[in-house]
Amino acid sequence: MAEQSAEQFKGEARLPRFAAPRRYDLRLTPDLDACVFSGSVVVSVDVTAPTRFLVLNAADLEFASGGVHFTPQGTGQVLHAVEVTNVPEDEILIIRFNEVLPLGEGALAIAFKGTLNDKMNGFYRSVYELNGEKKNMAVTQFEPADARRCFPCWDEPSFKAVFKITLEVPSETVALSNMPVVEEKVNGPTKVVYFEETPIMSTYLVAVIVGLFDYVEAFTSDGTRVRVYTQVGKSAQGKFALEVAVKTLILFKEYFAVPYPLPKMDMIAIPDFASGAMENYGLVTYRETALLFDERHSAAANKQRVAVVVAHELAHQWFGNLVTMEWWTHLWLNEGFATWVAYLAADNFFPEWNVWTQFLEESTTGFKLDALAGSHPIEVDVNHVDEIDEIFDAISYRKGASVIRMLQSYLGAETFQKSLAAYIKRFAYSNAKTEDLWAALEEGSGEPVKTLMHSWTKQQGYPVVNMRLKDGKLEMEQTQFLSSGSEGVVQWVIPITLCCCSYSRQEKFLFHGKQEDFNLSGLVECQKKDDFWIKLNVNQTGFYRVNYDEELASRLRYAVEANKLSAADRYGVLDDTYALCMAGKQKLVSLLHLIAAYKNETEYTVLAHAITTSLSIFEMMAVAAPEELSNLKKFLIDFLEPFAQRLGWDAKSGEGHLNALLRGTLLTALAELGHEATINEAVRRFNVFLEDRETSLLPPDVRKAAYVALMQTANKSNRAGYESLLKIYRETDLSQEKVRVLGSLASSPDPDVVRDALDFILSPEVRNQDSIFVLRGVSAAAHEVAWTWLKEKWDYISNTFSGTLLTYFVSVTVSPLFTDEKGDDAEEFFKSRTKASIARTVKQSIERVRISAKWVKSTRSEANLGNVLKELAHKN
Ligand code: BES
Ligand code: ZN
Repeated sequence: MAEQSAEQFKGEARLPRFAAPRRYDLRLTPDLDACVFSGSVVVSVDVTAPTRFLVLNAADLEFASGGVHFTPQGTGQVLHAVEVTNVPEDEILIIRFNEVLPLGEGALAIAFKGTLNDKMNGFYRSVYELNGEKKNMAVTQFEPADARRCFPCWDEPSFKAVFKITLEVPSETVALSNMPVVEEKVNGPTKVVYFEETPIMSTYLVAVIVGLFDYVEAFTSDGTRVRVYTQVGKSAQGKFALEVAVKTLILFKEYFAVPYPLPKMDMIAIPDFASGAMENYGLVTYRETALLFDERHSAAANKQRVAVVVAHELAHQWFGNLVTMEWWTHLWLNEGFATWVAYLAADNFFPEWNVWTQFLEESTTGFKLDALAGSHPIEVDVNHVDEIDEIFDAISYRKGASVIRMLQSYLGAETFQKSLAAYIKRFAYSNAKTEDLWAALEEGSGEPVKTLMHSWTKQQGYPVVNMRLKDGKLEMEQTQFLSSGSEGVVQWVIPITLCCCSYSRQEKFLFHGKQEDFNLSGLVECQKKDDFWIKLNVNQTGFYRVNYDEELASRLRYAVEANKLSAADRYGVLDDTYALCMAGKQKLVSLLHLIAAYKNETEYTVLAHAITTSLSIFEMMAVAAPEELSNLKKFLIDFLEPFAQRLGWDAKSGEGHLNALLRGTLLTALAELGHEATINEAVRRFNVFLEDRETSLLPPDVRKAAYVALMQTANKSNRAGYESLLKIYRETDLSQEKVRVLGSLASSPDPDVVRDALDFILSPEVRNQDSIFVLRGVSAAAHEVAWTWLKEKWDYISNTFSGTLLTYFVSVTVSPLFTDEKGDDAEEFFKSRTKASIARTVKQSIERVRISAKWVKSTRSEANLGNVLKELAHKN
């Protein structure tokens, strides 16, 4: 045996593997009033190589001296630890024994104490009100690496074990964990609740909740008990999620060809929650906004959110919980896959929502982040726990989901599903790497999946295919697409799809090289047609952009105008042109002309994207060419107004979900553009609503629009609108309503009002989980106000917020800045303030500022812009 010393375990990314846990017997006793807990754990450990040490994770816990001992199985002998060292930087516990531990199993017993913290991770407290009285509940959030804040454990996804959990809690409370209760022993004011043993699983999926709740319940057709727990008195708001969950469990049982492995599924709304939801095995936790649906006051967008989040978390029960990533490098397997398959479920249950078209927004967000030099590969090295939070980002989720969609459409839905089911079966109750998934898909399809996919998951970025039509041949060339306009040298294996003049025939092939000419049969015939067009990346299933030559681009513009393309392709043409324009590869005037081609657009997602694009141009132009703003504004309002007139403010009876979504988006945009008629109508309706919250004049789908409109009228001397919104905020008990208000509060162009709204974030009236909504809603005119504010409050903010919440503060505030000067300022500011947990975000956000500054410059050099805008503004 090599000589061991405690030093060798420090500063390592992963725990040593000479001992592994098999079973945890965990007992926790939370004190909800004092906000502390005590606990004891007995871990059955398998020692596989001689060692005097046991090394596991622990953080923010206290250990009584002499409280750690190890009992090798069958010997009856108790070995007392001679030294227990907690290394806070590494969040590990190094336990030293005098003698070498015998190989085989033994029981490690540790007693400990901790605090029910207010940071929304580890074992924490969330505050709620019952009959006017404030109460605490105890909740766990362990992913990615905070189980160690609740009990000492091997806190890495590949150390799977069985958990036998016992809770000692006040008798009147509801105590929940991953498994059903086997026994409850009430002893006066306290009770001891024993839960069934779990199947083997990772620590990050363990969960415990103690508080007062109501629930609704249903059973799946194969007998799984499903419950949705809510605040007392609000269980009716859980019904929609319950219905979705029951259907989803059955759908995924079929899709993965494995039944849901646990006897029950509980889902619960937590008032203070760091992310959107968490897939704990058998006990999924949610933000209220992601689980609850109120028939009268929730919007269509809220409904869709609930359905998608529920489907996402339930997908993890297989993809993540049953088959778990081997290490965080493969986090994308969990998140990318769950994101993708949630759309599959939503499309199944709600075909009229056209979610596969809406999915393109996910791809766009992935595209945007991945067009930065500071992006990262889907499979990313993780060397320290602090780096994990930051990779729960658009690369893991949205690029991940997009490349899965690309692969599925290349292999075909049936082959894809069969191979997936084989993968799940092969790795159930175990761990897998990205390669393992490719291997299963390669076996199932006979296609070179590994070679194809490595170029997408092991290298960052994505390609743009430059397309030219020359002498009857198509010329294709690929380069890396970067928003900065630079060109990378990397290449991809691109599954190309192509349509020419119609969708009835599709060309399909893999494009490996740098450059290739392509002879398209039928091209000559097709080219003779007046309405000739070619669309690459049919229905946008590929994760790449296309840059067409001028001729092909203008043909596509006609095809959009004449409604020849599918909705996804109409979306793609616009999104690619916008990205290319920002990168200096297409002229802004071409983009503006293209937007005008969408004047008869019928699809929600496409029009919504045209709106987002328009508002982004508007913001940029306010910096680049303020003198052109009035023409631009006129053009955009003329473009949007007819849609708004058709839709009106009131829902038509029996109208679809997508109309409801569109109405809100459209009216909000018109309000932001300062459209007077919209603002006046909004204020009129709002005033009625202020007096009567049940009025039919302001349905939930248009409330946000009305709030934003109202805020356009607020300024330093007229704060009535702002105050009224606060009143709505204070008087509602629906989280979705609170979020609508928060998202509107800072949308005033007036810097003083925005400052007040920002200060409100840090007041006790706003839960930490919700602060980000205000920042996200800061008006274009006030981004610099928000940046100044963030700098002033940074010390407080960086001490109060952590994880993804803290990174949002940075990205949402820094990214929208527009000048190099501000970029320098941000760089200077974070030089002395950066830390591992925000380093990536700081870098990416500053890069975005540089890109915007460059876009401003290239816009200023566009000679013809003024004339084109004049022409567009006075077309009608
Ligand atoms: N596993 C995540 C929750 C999570 C996120 C844990 C970040 C730790 C850090 C969960 O499955 C998830 O992805 N939630 C999403 C919602 C989903 C519908 C995209 C979220 O929280 O936004
Ligand atoms: Zn997830």
